[in-house]
Amino acid sequence: MSTLDPLNARHAIPAIAQVIAGQDGLPAVHVTAPAAEGLVYLHGAHVAAFKPHGAPNVLWLSQKSLWQPGKPIRGGVPICFPWFGPRQGVPASPDSPPHGFARLLAWELQSIQQSTHGVTVALALTSSDATRAVWPHDFVLRHHVTFGPQLVMTLELTNTGTSPLTAEEALHTYFALADVKQVQVNGLAGTRYVDKADGFKEKPQMGLITITAETDRVYLDTTATVTLDDPIQRRRITIAKDNSRNTVVWNPWIAKAKAMPDFGDDEWPGMLCVETCNVGPAAVSLAPGQTHHMTARLSVAPLP
Ligand code: BG6
Repeated sequence: MSTLDPLNARHAIPAIAQVIAGQDGLPAVHVTAPAAEGLVYLHGAHVAAFKPHGAPNVLWLSQKSLWQPGKPIRGGVPICFPWFGPRQGVPASPDSPPHGFARLLAWELQSIQQSTHGVTVALALTSSDATRAVWPHDFVLRHHVTFGPQLVMTLELTNTGTSPLTAEEALHTYFALADVKQVQVNGLAGTRYVDKADGFKEKPQMGLITITAETDRVYLDTTATVTLDDPIQRRRITIAKDNSRNTVVWNPWIAKAKAMPDFGDDEWPGMLCVETCNVGPAAVSLAPGQTHHMTARLSVAPLP
């Protein structure tokens, strides 16, 4: 008997959703909903594919990604939690991995349900001795992923402990593009951002964004919908969001791509991250028993 059999016995929907052995045998839920095909790994609750209406994957994945417990997947939608980037005030160590521990751990598959909106996969990560050893809080983090005409991802954090907690969170979404140098990013004009590629200086965004160099920006206090126009693929990706006060825009460009072992040297023109998040001063603070939801809604349409 395969280790996937009990999961399928409990959750599979014939011809619609199955648990499969994904890359390097990692379990993943494969969805063939009427409006879209999708794939979400239990490792990191990591969405790896979204193909609406038979279109190619909207999400980018590196050919060099690792597919291993304890390592992040490069591409798709990693979940950053409970901190974003390097952990503040703590030297980098295996206990304080960049972007937190949620993307490194196996999540529990809780349910798969079909509705008029599509097929929703729900996964959960619950605090354990291992998480409390590095981050002293009790929590349940749930990820609800709906594959339909849109990809809708809701990250739900509940403080199950007896003291307040504060956490950063991000849906670190990698989009597949024909050539990032030709893409236009709209929706953030007039918004201030922290330029991590230029000494963390705070700057105003003048007009639309084009990518002409390493780009690593945390846009501040924005709930705006962002669009990515890809003139070569002739498509517009729209990223709408709820309860998220930051948007991060990231492309490593030439040197940073070369420096990352799990990122192909020549892959950087094919991707751009536009991340739905709450980071820094916008981190989520919850009293015991409180819950917070953050949602990203991704859709694709032909360029007008
Ligand atoms: C982005 C950060 O969100 O993620 C960048 O703003 C970082 O600074 C990038 O380099 C990738 O991070 P990682 O840990 O997946 O290599």
